[in-house]
Formats: sequence, C-alpha cells, structure tokens
Amino acid sequence: MFGRPAASVATFPYWESLRKSGVTWDSSSLDKWLVDPDGFVPDNDMAFRVPNKEERPMVIEYLKDVSPNEDACVRSKTVRRGGRAWMPVAVLECIRC
Ligand code: HEM
Repeated sequence: MFGRPAASVATFPYWESLRKSGVTWDSSSLDKWLVDPDGFVPDNDMAFRVPNKEERPMVIEYLKDVSPNEDACVRSKTVRRGGRAWMPVAVLECIRC
C-alpha cells in the first residue's frame, strides 16, 4: 500500500474517480482517505471511515508495517540482481515483482 499509486491492483474493479485521482498512498493521503474517502477522492466506492483520530495512526502504522518496499522485498532484490535464487526467509507480495 505505502508508496504505490491509488487503484493500482490490476485485478480490482476500482471506481474511475480513484483510478484518475493521481493519489499515492502515504501517511498523509491515507489519513485524509480514512477520515473521509469522499472528501478526499469525490465519488469513490468506499463507504467506510475511521473517524477516531487515535485509531487512524495505528491503522496507518499497521499498513506501513505490512506494505512491501524495495528493501523488504526479497524477490525484487533477487530480480534486480539478475535472478539469482536465494532462499528467502520471508517472501512478501510485491507489486514490483
Ligand atoms: C481500516 C479499514 C480500511 C482501510 C485502511 C481501507 C483502505 C483503503 C484504501 C487505501 C483503498 C484504496 C485501495 C487502492 O488504491 O488500491 C481502499 C479502497 C476501497 N475500500 Fe477500503 N479500507 C478499509 C475498510 C473498508 C471497508 C470495511 C470496506 C467495505 C465495506 C471498504 C471498501 C473499499 C472499496 C469498495 C474500495 C475501492 C474504492 C473505489 O474503487 O473507489 N474498505 N480502501
């Protein structure tokens, strides 16, 4: 989730507004989205909010924690180093792989 453009999972049928939003997910954009998805990206399809300002940072930290990134993603490193197959300790799903 972190660092990737909104609506970039190819198999999910996103609303057009989210696909055209130009948003990249980070702490700030996720916070705005979770307060009020429609206020942030008008006419999207998520009817759920996290109005509690103490809960939101926890949700966002969790998402950061479980989001793959170049340093954490064993497979993207393997691919960039020419496909040498090390046995990864933990394989994370990575949109770059
Ligand atoms: C804490 C819980 C939740 C978080 C953190 C969250 C976060 C997000 C984020 C970041 C996106 C954008 C996805 C992307 O760009 O790939 C999204 C999309 C979406 N979410 Fe949630 N969501 C939550 C709960 C829910 C719930 C409970 C529902 C439904 C009952 C829901 C329905 C949707 C839908 C339908 C979309 C696609 C919106 C569109 O295409 O316009 N979400 N959500």
